[in-house]
Amino acid sequence: MVAPILIRPCAPNQLPALVELLDQEFIFSKGRNLSVARRFPTALGSENCPNILLACRGEQIAGAIVIRRFDWVTAARTWRGAMLGLVYTRPEERGQGVASDLLRTAESTLRADGTAFAVLWTAQPEFYRRLGWTGSDCGVFGTCTSADGVAAACVPAEAATIEALRLRSGSAHLLRSPTSYRTLPLPAEHLELLASPDRESYAIVGVQANRAYVYEIGGAPAGYAALWRDISAAPRTVFVNERHGSTAQQWLASRPDISWRDQRLAMWLPLADPDCARHFSDWYVPFLDRI
Ligand SMILES: CC(C)(COP(=O)(O)OP(=O)(O)OC[C@H]1O[C@@H](n2cnc3c(N)ncnc32)[C@H](O)[C@@H]1OP(=O)(O)O)[C@@H](O)C(=O)NCCC(=O)NCCS
Repeated sequence: MVAPILIRPCAPNQLPALVELLDQEFIFSKGRNLSVARRFPTALGSENCPNILLACRGEQIAGAIVIRRFDWVTAARTWRGAMLGLVYTRPEERGQGVASDLLRTAESTLRADGTAFAVLWTAQPEFYRRLGWTGSDCGVFGTCTSADGVAAACVPAEAATIEALRLRSGSAHLLRSPTSYRTLPLPAEHLELLASPDRESYAIVGVQANRAYVYEIGGAPAGYAALWRDISAAPRTVFVNERHGSTAQQWLASRPDISWRDQRLAMWLPLADPDCARHFSDWYVPFLDRI
């Protein structure tokens, strides 16, 4: 007889098997490297196991969903949020409702404990729309090709320096720990934390071969020119992820060499506090914070 599927939190001793499945799906089968465990140390750390849901058939993992809880700090108030990611069903178990059941279980668990809203980022919006999620993304994606240039002597930045500058901006944010600054969004292979020569502004950049992914530019606008000069000092393709209309995006938009398109990855689900839904079109969670 085939064992039924049961959904339960991941036990710490199941984490290595889960990571192996997720690596196969999201990393190695796509020709990428570096394990998801190394890329998402907060979400896939053993202390987050209670927030990782597994669909198990007997001893075997049939599917999984990773939840990361966070406080979303806005000027008016702090909301309890949760992000979902690494939604996965083992290939031979697909098309039988495993992922839908995991998502519904995540939803009811979060709603019951007072989580105000959930957010995820996906290129497969239809799958989530059927389960009640709505798409709304104030992010923009810029692309440009840089040529050889003269670097501006920006310096490596400490995570604590960036965090202090970031919190000064007063915009809605979630708090980061030093571990957050070890997150490595796909497909980057290493992360560069840069400060302008006066250390009043910063950039967070992921690098993969001859591509650079700017995840964030912040701090004092006077330093943006130096940061941008260093980011584009080598010949490579530079991708920019920013919130539409942010101070950095406005500065970058004045440059003629970056082409922009709207981002359409974020999807939201109001939970215990439906009132927060009116903010979804305004809220931007930077790449470094995402699963
Ligand atoms: C996407 C995924 C999690 C779905 O898992 P699943 O257990 O098969 O999902 P369910 O059985 O609950 O739902 C399947 C339904 O979703 C639909 N679906 C699956 N992938 C879809 C997609 N990319 N876009 C739209 N619909 C999709 C199927 O057509 C099916 O519809 P049906 O019930 O009308 O036939 C699974 O295919 C998977 O692990 N894919 C690889 C990893 C991945 O892409 N994860 C999502 C990252 S955002």
